[in-house]
Amino acid sequence: MRPSPRLAFRFSWLVWVVAVPPRTRGAEDGYDLWLRYRPVADAARLAEYRANITQLVVASDAPTLRAARNELVAGLRGLLGRDVPVAGAVSRDGALVVGTPASSRVVAALPLADALRQAGPEGFVIRALAIRGRRAIVVAANRDVGVLYGAFHLLRLLQTQAPLAELSLVSAPRLGLRLLDHWDNVNGTVERGYAGASLWEWARLPDSINPRYSDYARANASVGINGVVLTNVNANALILTPAYLVKVAALARVFRPYGLKVYLTARFSAPIEIGGLPTADPLDSGVRGWWAAKADEIYRVIPDFGGFLVKANSEGQPGPQDYHRTHADGANLLADAVAPHGGVVMWRAFVYSSHVPTDRVMQAGDEFVPLDGAFRSNVLIQVKHGPLDFQPREPFHPLFGAMPRTPLMMEVQVTKEYLGQDSHLAFLAPLWEEVFQADTYAHGPGSTVANAIQGIAGVANVGTDRDWTGSDFNQANWYAFGRLAWDHMLSSAAIADEWIRMTFSNDPRVVGPLEAMMLASREAVVNYMTPLGLAHQMARGHHYGPGPWVTGGRADQTSVYFSRADSVGLGFDRTASGSNAVRQYALPVRHRFARRDSVPDALLLWFHHVGWSERLRSGRTLWEELLRRYQAGVDTVRWMQRTWNGLEHQVDGERFHRVQALLRIQEAEARWWRDASVLYWQSFSHLPLPPDYEAPAHPLDWYRQLRCPADLRRPRCDAVMGAPK
Ligand code: GCU
Repeated sequence: MRPSPRLAFRFSWLVWVVAVPPRTRGAEDGYDLWLRYRPVADAARLAEYRANITQLVVASDAPTLRAARNELVAGLRGLLGRDVPVAGAVSRDGALVVGTPASSRVVAALPLADALRQAGPEGFVIRALAIRGRRAIVVAANRDVGVLYGAFHLLRLLQTQAPLAELSLVSAPRLGLRLLDHWDNVNGTVERGYAGASLWEWARLPDSINPRYSDYARANASVGINGVVLTNVNANALILTPAYLVKVAALARVFRPYGLKVYLTARFSAPIEIGGLPTADPLDSGVRGWWAAKADEIYRVIPDFGGFLVKANSEGQPGPQDYHRTHADGANLLADAVAPHGGVVMWRAFVYSSHVPTDRVMQAGDEFVPLDGAFRSNVLIQVKHGPLDFQPREPFHPLFGAMPRTPLMMEVQVTKEYLGQDSHLAFLAPLWEEVFQADTYAHGPGSTVANAIQGIAGVANVGTDRDWTGSDFNQANWYAFGRLAWDHMLSSAAIADEWIRMTFSNDPRVVGPLEAMMLASREAVVNYMTPLGLAHQMARGHHYGPGPWVTGGRADQTSVYFSRADSVGLGFDRTASGSNAVRQYALPVRHRFARRDSVPDALLLWFHHVGWSERLRSGRTLWEELLRRYQAGVDTVRWMQRTWNGLEHQVDGERFHRVQALLRIQEAEARWWRDASVLYWQSFSHLPLPPDYEAPAHPLDWYRQLRCPADLRRPRCDAVMGAPK
């Protein structure tokens, strides 16, 4: 029977008082992320859950199973509003049995062999079944970590108010390596971090263990992330010294029960800097011996150390080319050192040569494709999602599919260096989904980027801010990254839906509007920052606000290099008449991008220099279409504001006001982007703004002379806020 709404309300209020731990009651400070475990609001569902989960049966106390048990105990207490007792055996209807066949006789006796085979080493099986005549739910896996992932998944089902009847699912990750890369420096700062300082308290480790470390590990495990690179790709060799390795080992100890392996960045010149050798030449026997001994030393203190991530010969980082050796020579040196211990080397394809190339975006392809087949089997080449640098939109990187004999990883940025950093709401799942599903045609139709990779790394967006990520909605990107790393076939909409239900509410009046906002948000950023395939128009250095006029210094790091704006038109000609970067793509993608009648509008100016008055497929001229897109970006943010304002009574006041304030900033800054960009392009096109176009607030020079505050981590310009529109 469904209780009357009035009763249900009073009832859930009661549960709320009993169930919510005092630490978080009422404080919507974001610390609990999507693991909030607030009481199930729907009374019928709550009754169903209470009837179907009455005891928790865990047979082993191994660390990972203990983590699963603790999570279930806490989660169920919060969600069901009462304690679910832990038992050694199934003794009543409603047993929740969790374990592996090896750790639990009950699990071993269940007919799960086929399902467990599908689950593989990290996956899990969740099933409603009968155990000796009693109703039960089992969360089973081949390894303890699978049980932990399954426990989080079951909690997710309850958090999103899914029905439990006939529960039967098998879930296994599609990618083996699902890593967060921290760009954290040993001095506590975070490169491109917008959520405070580094979480790693090097000065206090190994003696003091901040409780946040295990909460961080829980959050990662809850979405299936299984590795963490602790240090910045712009590496400091100090991290490889004994004094730091014991600190790294302490973090590894905290992370281990959660299935999270630790990796470090290796500075290529470390043998010189901390080893006292005269060279770091990868073919030098002394250097090879040094790295082998270093690897032995690391594995002595961290037996399950994952391996090294390396940025070499890029943006001033040392590398094998300093010794006239290849990237393969460099990667293989480190790969040989960690191979006896089962470690891997993730070698980044984000390289810059010492001279300015004809086309920056071709460099990785030109350097790495000839090396296909030259790498050891434990080397993965880590490739950014696009050939430039984490732009709001880029075509997929041409290396995907182009190195069939080399394992590849994809690198994405969870931290939004180029998409409004901490303040703009931009849900990144649609961006990643677009790349995963892109068809490279490298091996015929259906050769998606997702099929070309063995792992994924996301540049982390977490820091010491209480809410971990600098804003409530940035948490969604951490969540989405993990979910897509686990299963890239999940849709952005499905991920947004889960996250909203877990983080805000299951109320359809909240879920619908928030999902719409999140799904529209990335395209809005593309439109007001870099529409129609434009890229890298951000201000120099901090990359926050608009800087289409940026010039000087190394040419291939300037906006004008990428826009190619002139009196004729706009866009980078990458067809055969220009840099011919299209040649790096397989047919028929190459032709699709090269031809004006088939290139998607979204990538038009990435591949083509288009005349200001040329007509696009829409029938509008380039100038008209540009104006339209910039305006659409601003309009979408305004619509997001209105949508959010409509939720005032459905969302707690704390988060409501925080998000409202950030949307106000985003709206003003979307106008800043639109006005600065449109005025700058107009100085080339000399075409008028239509009379009904929203007039820029200031002349071009005003935008050009704007200097942001000295704090580069929060490079906001108060001046652009002006009066709200
Ligand atoms: C971007 C970013 C740098 C970073 C680099 C990299 O260029 O701005 O801070 O070091 O990417 O990925 O190595």
